[in-house]
Amino acid sequence: MQVYLDNAATTKTDGRVLKAMLPYFSVDYGNPSSIHTLGQDNFNVLTKARERAAKLLGAEPRGIIFTSSATEANNYLIKGIARANRKKGDHIIISALEHPCVRESARQLEKDGFRVSVIPANSEGLIETAELEKLIDKQTVLVSVMMVNNEIGTIQDIAALAKIAKKHGAFFHTDAVQAVPYLKINVKELGVDALSLSAHKFGGPKGVGLAYLNPAIYAEPLIIGGGQEDGKRAGTYNLPGIIGLVEALELAYKERSEYLKRVKKLRDRLWDGLKKKLPDIQANGTLKERVPANLNVMFGYVEGEAILIDLSYKGVYVSTGSACSATNLKASNVLSAIGLSKHFLNSNIRFSLGKETTEKEIDYTIKMVVETVGRLREFSPVSHL
Ligand SMILES: Cc1ncc(COP(=O)(O)O)c(C=O)c1O
Repeated sequence: MQVYLDNAATTKTDGRVLKAMLPYFSVDYGNPSSIHTLGQDNFNVLTKARERAAKLLGAEPRGIIFTSSATEANNYLIKGIARANRKKGDHIIISALEHPCVRESARQLEKDGFRVSVIPANSEGLIETAELEKLIDKQTVLVSVMMVNNEIGTIQDIAALAKIAKKHGAFFHTDAVQAVPYLKINVKELGVDALSLSAHKFGGPKGVGLAYLNPAIYAEPLIIGGGQEDGKRAGTYNLPGIIGLVEALELAYKERSEYLKRVKKLRDRLWDGLKKKLPDIQANGTLKERVPANLNVMFGYVEGEAILIDLSYKGVYVSTGSACSATNLKASNVLSAIGLSKHFLNSNIRFSLGKETTEKEIDYTIKMVVETVGRLREFSPVSHL
């Protein structure tokens, strides 16, 4: 049996999405920037796709910029907004839970002379508004806090945090990559100036992302050249990818309510099953303000990597930290930020369920995890202390 529980790393491209993308590879393949009909017809398709994305996010079409990934969207929005508005101030704030592409963008700004402050997380994995209030000042030009954490799935109160930024005259960005379809996203209602998404996290293709930027705000472009995306992001339009992103976004929200109920039941079944059968385990981060597809568990006295590899042999695919740090065995910054003891920092597994997860798969996973952890603990030098 194969059980894929790594949907926060990437999801399978939905067959309906793939079908919608296919014509734009070898039938309607014109470059939307070309002046002839094959090009202009595709420019119209692109315009419609932008309008569809804007409608889903409560944004104006002019605020939608298609990119190659959320990594690019985050780099563009964070560095671009800060650099273009340096006269306003030289201070930026990010949260302690951010994805490496946000942290590294902030670090690069720091090298360019910006001051960077980091809002701590509490032990539940939440960012408190009072902590932002303590750090924000007149020089703060941008605040960036992710909507949903990729490792522990915790949900931040973005509207409340954005309100504080606005009160102090700072722009607000949120990395919403892990929020679709779990949270409804309306940029106006949330009060955010900038937001990032990635198609492959919600049934779309890899290699395409979306940056939302309030059209009244200027950000210095990251990629310059042919003037595409209204001069905000150069490079030939990836029309099949863009169609895939928009199609996947529409489907994700259309099928949302039924999916949320189903996935929460399965996640709770997994947690209950593990708790019942294994001592010395703990869920990392609150289970309340958390997306229903995520479970991150600390298994005392065993290495997360050892669990992952053994489970992989049994056909169960999970992750330790975030997938982006699979080549980097440094302890997770997220688990450190929520105060997990250093003895347990390498004993964690992230299970991320998805649209195709079944009850049978969850029961198989429980059985395999119990077997793996039990066996590894027999060899663990510290498990009997
Ligand atoms: C929260 C978060 N932000 C950004 C990214 C990067 O997205 P992409 O794969 O589109 O570069 C990821 C991917 O793991 C993520 O989980």
